[in-house]
Amino acid sequence: MNSIAFISPKGGAGKTTASLLLALGLVARGCRVAMIDSDPNKPLARWAELPGKPERLSVHPAPTLHDLADARREAVRAEPDWIILDTEGSERGAMAFAALRPDLVLTPLGGSQLEANEAIKAAEMVRAFGQRGGRPLPHRCLLTRIPAAIRPRSLKTVVSQLRASDIEILPTALLEKEAFRALFSIGGGFEALEASKFAGITAAKANVEAYVSAVLDLVGKTPAPDPGHPPSPPAPPQPSGGEAQ
Ligand SMILES: Nc1ncnc2c1ncn2[C@@H]1O[C@H](COP(=O)(O)OP(=O)(O)OP(=O)(O)O)[C@@H](O)[C@H]1O
Ligand SMILES: [Mg+2]
Repeated sequence: MNSIAFISPKGGAGKTTASLLLALGLVARGCRVAMIDSDPNKPLARWAELPGKPERLSVHPAPTLHDLADARREAVRAEPDWIILDTEGSERGAMAFAALRPDLVLTPLGGSQLEANEAIKAAEMVRAFGQRGGRPLPHRCLLTRIPAAIRPRSLKTVVSQLRASDIEILPTALLEKEAFRALFSIGGGFEALEASKFAGITAAKANVEAYVSAVLDLVGKTPAPDPGHPPSPPAPPQPSGGEAQ
């Protein structure tokens, strides 16, 4: 069982969206995924109440830090291949990753100075935790909400700044996609978006597949394909602006 936590002291960075996209992408590859929703606003638990949640994906709310241990136990009981933790956008909320001791911590950020500052803070929190535990904990920044067509200059500045602080960046960025926002109002996964004739869904799915592959390169292995649930075909090349160079 592998585990990943999404943290950022900054609200609205894209944690919940990126965590759900990773979960849906892993489910599409035949994995079982248990998500722990440690945001008191319970965005994932609310999504799970909408129609269309895949059977292989469970959501376990932990609205306070005291609920984390129970939610983790419940998540493990679902016998998942992956546990994914989504956290509240605050320094205190971000510390929830410590209770999970994940294999990888991801910090989503857009291309703004404010978000870069907060991502550096998140990386320092993870570094300090690893040092206290005597074992470094892998951390990556995940560029997200990136426009597909153009790469803003501010994004280049942010990337250089993170690199100067020795912070590693996941090689695939998540693009700014209306389809990703729509998941939280329609419910379900990409099939639901396709059924509702949502525009740009093919590019959105390709972006998620590249993102999932980038995570899998760092953590875990995809289980053997399930005959009842074949894996998705390989992702086409990233659209321009999708790679973190
Ligand atoms: N890749 C994306 N494309 C389009 N919209 C996005 C993307 N990622 C996030 N958003 C939108 O940005 C907003 C914030 O995203 P999200 O809720 O995922 O952030 P968060 O870090 O979980 O926020 P919080 O700290 O409040 O929990 C939402 O309106 C979401 O729909
Ligand atoms: Mg959130």
